[in-house]
Amino acid sequence: MKKWYAVIGDPIAHSLSPYMHETWFKENGVDAAYIPVRVEPADLEKAFLALRTLGVSGFNITLPHKESILPMLDRLDETAAVMGAVNTVVFDGKQYAGFNTDGDGFVQSLFAAAVDLDVKVLVIGAGGAARGIAFALKRAGFADIVIANRTVERAEELAQDIDGSALTLQQAENGLGEFGIIIQTTSVGLSKDQALPISLENIKPGSIAADIIYNPMETPFLLKAKEQGCITINGIGMFVYQGAIAFEKWTGIKPDTEKMMELITNKLGGQYVNK
Ligand code: ATR
Repeated sequence: MKKWYAVIGDPIAHSLSPYMHETWFKENGVDAAYIPVRVEPADLEKAFLALRTLGVSGFNITLPHKESILPMLDRLDETAAVMGAVNTVVFDGKQYAGFNTDGDGFVQSLFAAAVDLDVKVLVIGAGGAARGIAFALKRAGFADIVIANRTVERAEELAQDIDGSALTLQQAENGLGEFGIIIQTTSVGLSKDQALPISLENIKPGSIAADIIYNPMETPFLLKAKEQGCITINGIGMFVYQGAIAFEKWTGIKPDTEKMMELITNKLGGQYVNK
């Protein structure tokens, strides 16, 4: 029987996940469908029951359900448990298992740009996204990870969990030249008018500046970093790789990420708002 998968979230209409997974199903000759479903927060439990009843083989979860889905699942992998958030669910015929592929997706996109594990890494932000990335950086073997956040207590908490250290945004700004990789995970930068989370005056030319946002493809943070001579990485890689890890969990197939990066970039080119 034809398998089917879904992504649930609210809003969901602009998600590129259906396009990405359906393209990969086609490319790999897998007879399956992938459907976006808008689920309001109050309906999550009912929606999960409906997905189960209708025989979903797996699904992705996006905002605002990544945390609230946890108690409904039969088991969680270690990363999802530590993060307290799930973005991928796999049904093995008996149980619904929750995974979080966001952090590893980000780190894979970083490795695609060839990085050195000995450089000092700065993560700006300490929310859910920063948490996933910080744990994945630690697992990947980065030795020196520093978290800077507006609310420094949150930075301290996350730093403690990954044996890193914490800074205020001001301290990060002053010492920016020490870092070889700077990762922007805050919601600042979604639009051109918003300020940068920190000033990039002291950034070291040649260092890597990464943003998890992919629309706009070039956030003010990335534009400024490029101006300062940095290598920039936008959020398209993270999006594609987190999807590729989920796809492999569902099908056992490693999809073509290189081609997908190009397809997604082209797709976003039309709606590039940062001009
Ligand atoms: P997500 O799960 O997407 O990471 P989140 O948990 O709400 O979202 O976290 C948002 C992050 O952006 C936090 O690090 C937040 O800083 P605080 O912990 O101090 O709230 C950061 N952030 C949001 N708006 C910001 C702003 N105007 N300046 C600096 N940091 C900001």
